[in-house]
Amino acid sequence: MNDSVTTPAKTLPDAQIVTAVRHWTDSLFSFRVTRPRTLRFRSGEFVMIGLLDDNGKPLLRAYSIASPSWDEELEFYSIKVPNGPLTSRLQHIQPGDQIILRPKPVGTLVLDALLPGERLWFLATGTGIAPFASLMRDPETYERYESVVMMHTCRTVAELEYGRQLVDGLRDDPLIGEYAHKLKYYATTTREASHRMGRITDNLTSGKVFADLGIPPMDRATDRAMVCGSLAFNIDVKAVLEGFGLREGANSEPLEYVVEKAFVGDGV
Ligand code: FAD
Ligand code: A2P
Repeated sequence: MNDSVTTPAKTLPDAQIVTAVRHWTDSLFSFRVTRPRTLRFRSGEFVMIGLLDDNGKPLLRAYSIASPSWDEELEFYSIKVPNGPLTSRLQHIQPGDQIILRPKPVGTLVLDALLPGERLWFLATGTGIAPFASLMRDPETYERYESVVMMHTCRTVAELEYGRQLVDGLRDDPLIGEYAHKLKYYATTTREASHRMGRITDNLTSGKVFADLGIPPMDRATDRAMVCGSLAFNIDVKAVLEGFGLREGANSEPLEYVVEKAFVGDGV
């Protein structure tokens, strides 16, 4: 049986070819596609991608580009939503299939949206790690900051695996290897026992993450943060960051932290 999905006609100007697919769990997968030669983006931005629906109309959703801006291909990290209009189809893509990619990158999770600082925090739940998968592989991140902390929280250990393998690979990466010592990776689970547990909000407010990593608490003078998770997570983390004195910035007004939704949630 051919599992391939309905793909755009070859003449479609925004079609890209799938080059690799990897399934991480029943509900998570990543894939790589060819990159339009004219596409320029800043690490951390997102684009609209999708497939044609049964009526031949584009079915598009926002996706963070998980690969860094220097990569010759594009990588994405995706949820599989049961009965989700796009992902119930997208999860079946295979190398050689085509997807639609609108080459108009946008987003707030970019280095230019923050004031200069010493330490940069990436705070993510679930697929919210995707923009940081890009930024963690961009040399500019480490040229701008003395240290980087990646906090990623999921319910289970298996859901952390994409991020864990990515971080593990940085040490041997020809471009990033020399900076890998600057990155501290702090991954936790909340619903399965593991080496480190707890919500990002709790580990920040209790001071556990600072104690575990042997680093000083957050301070507006030195620390910058980028946040990407569910709406509830983003709201709660914002309150924690404001508690440390950090203020929310934007591309137009860089300050100490920026936020993006990892997805538009139920009823939001
Ligand atoms: P939809 O109808 O879009 O979603 C159905 C429901 O599924 C949502 O109401 C929500 O409750 C849940 N849901 C959707 N996406 C997620 C998710 N990622 N994690 C947990 N629950 C979810 N998704 C990714 O998988 N990877 C990305 O890099 C990514 N980047 C995004 C960037 C932005 C700025 C935004 C706004 C969304 C992003 N999304 C990402 C979500 C994506 O746009 C789609 O919602 C997702 O692909 C599901 O599409 P769907 O048509 O199957 O279901
Ligand atoms: P928890 O298991 O305690 O709810 P989800 O799968 O529901 O999107 O959640 C992904 C991760 O984000 C889970 O580990 C979850 O922890 C955590 N999380 C969900 N909501 C919040 C929140 N408001 N503040 C901090 N962490 C959250």
